[in-house]
Amino acid sequence: MSADDLRELSTWLRGGYGRPHEHHAALSSTNDRALEWLREGAPHGAVVTADAQTAGRGRRGRAWFSPPGQSLYASLVLRPGPVEPPGRLGALGLAVGVGLREGLPSLSAPVQLKWPNDLRVAGRKLGGILCESRWVGEVPEVVVGFGINVHAREFTGPLAAVATSVARHREGGAPGRAELLAALLVALEGAVEPFLRGGFAAVRERYVPWCETLGREALVGDQAAPEGARRGVAERLDEDGALWVRPADGGPAFRVESSDVWLAPPSEPGPREDGG
Ligand code: BTN
Repeated sequence: MSADDLRELSTWLRGGYGRPHEHHAALSSTNDRALEWLREGAPHGAVVTADAQTAGRGRRGRAWFSPPGQSLYASLVLRPGPVEPPGRLGALGLAVGVGLREGLPSLSAPVQLKWPNDLRVAGRKLGGILCESRWVGEVPEVVVGFGINVHAREFTGPLAAVATSVARHREGGAPGRAELLAALLVALEGAVEPFLRGGFAAVRERYVPWCETLGREALVGDQAAPEGARRGVAERLDEDGALWVRPADGGPAFRVESSDVWLAPPSEPGPREDGG
């Protein structure tokens, strides 16, 4: 039995999430396959994994680099039943961040949550979350996709300066991907199920202490067109998990639901802090 072989995930599972499980050597995107499986009737807790993705995607239409064997690419199916009010589901990614953070092994530096959906270690991106949903009448059907950099010790190209992995922060290397995913799924269940019953309030106290965005000067806008970004201090999260930012140039705080938010570089020219 290999702890890295995702085909053997079932032997590592300890909770309800992860059953049934489909593994593929390569997929366009585990989210695509999970959305298709959802339409075919996949139950709450079903999980799709792949060793590689040919068209892995991130938030806001960005590509997610998905080479074979080095990382976890996984998508979890959720059927939460009717959600009231429907907007409550908007903070699901925050609850997923809580679960993933809690399920990771302890690393040489704390895993932090960059609002809304990034996991970071020492200012570099360790993983990301992409929640996609469709509504059947009043009832949402959801796919929670997440990618975690596991074994890679070196990153090339644009990732070289911004990405990190579990292996880089753990003496003795990373656990195998199947063992790691099983731990993540138990922890996800412990964060997502309370969230589905109680909304962001149910996980707020487990999110806020690890949120590296709060209290920091941040830029809000489209990171591909940073000249249009607004600068301000990330002040607080409201009951829906939306971020309130106090503008640097005065004026009332404004609410951010889905823009890019990245930590502002120092006013003087200096090293870029953001990793994702
Ligand atoms: C982000 O940080 O922008 C989110 C990245 C999410 C990547 C994961 S990998 C598994 C799943 N399948 C995808 O195509 N995307 C998500």
